[in-house]
Amino acid sequence: MQTTELSPLELLHKNNSSDFLPLKGTDHVEFYVGNAKQSAYYYQAGWGFELVAYAGPETGLKDRASYVLQQGKVWLVLTTSFDPESEISQHVRKHGDGVKALALWVDDAEKAFEATTSRGAVAVHPVKTIKDQWGEVKLASIKTYGETIHTFIERKNYTGAFLPGYQPKASAFKAESVGLQFIDHCVGNVGWGEMNTWVKFYEEVMGFKLLITFDDNDIGTEYTALMSKVVSNGNGYVKFPINEPAEGKKKSQIEEYIDFYGGAGVQHLALATDDIIKTVTELRKRGIEFLQVPETYYEDLLSRVGKIDEDIADLKRLNLLVDRDEEGYLLQLFSKPVEDRPTVFYEIIQRKGAKSFGKGNFKALFEAIEREQALRGTL
Ligand code: FE2
Repeated sequence: MQTTELSPLELLHKNNSSDFLPLKGTDHVEFYVGNAKQSAYYYQAGWGFELVAYAGPETGLKDRASYVLQQGKVWLVLTTSFDPESEISQHVRKHGDGVKALALWVDDAEKAFEATTSRGAVAVHPVKTIKDQWGEVKLASIKTYGETIHTFIERKNYTGAFLPGYQPKASAFKAESVGLQFIDHCVGNVGWGEMNTWVKFYEEVMGFKLLITFDDNDIGTEYTALMSKVVSNGNGYVKFPINEPAEGKKKSQIEEYIDFYGGAGVQHLALATDDIIKTVTELRKRGIEFLQVPETYYEDLLSRVGKIDEDIADLKRLNLLVDRDEEGYLLQLFSKPVEDRPTVFYEIIQRKGAKSFGKGNFKALFEAIEREQALRGTL
């Protein structure tokens, strides 16, 4: 029987036919840190990641060490340098532990580099091919906000643990997964008046589309404010909200981040789970700290979000946040910063149809952040 209807996959390909930067998803996120060995243990013991690969002096790398951690499709790389003058050490001195690279998985690194640099992206390094006994990987990098970079990774001819040069490595510590599945979105904080510059960068240079705009009326409390726009790539696998500070009676949380980070950078990674109650119960048991909303948040919750599957007592016990849009609802929770500097933190998110970002929770959430800022003396 003939049919003219396209399957969802064909539709996806058709919609992406004009996508000059097809992305298969986030490949990994690389942090530059002061002590990768200890950070790796934190992510295993606290967050349920598994150590899968390593590169360092024992594998022939003389000046640094990198630990690769995996949970579901989330891959984190923690890199530290032994040379105080290196770019890695300078990054850590200036920013503290923070995200250096948001690596994007592509079919063709050469094309990705060419497509973006020809549209104005600043090259960090052109395509290079690296090899070991498990095959080869092509990679190239471009700059984005602050000192953050995007690395395009083409790994179709590679079967090793992570990238050429890395050896498989297991830990004596058997970390049990907390159910984190993939990176839902990754948020950047940029300086005053820079949000639109970076939105334009993602639109024109990376071929992303503007999904949502929040102004300071959406995201303001009595005291502080910020503005945010969310951009997404063609297939929707990669979403980057970009925040900038807005004027309020007191200091914006984005301004606080920029003061402590020493410029623009990654603010949070949102990690998806399909059972947030189980995930957050486990994370709390392991000592991960989260922002706290007041009890009153739950008083009118059901009248705001309507019927939900979860037991409100569980939500209250774990201090989970809920929001609804036209397509469904979502549950989310935000960690406290995972460094002493109030910079990078994590969001745990479970989507039940909703494709939005929890706008209904902004006020309660930002008031929780303000209480933390007040404790730090930075409000
Ligand atoms: Fe988020």
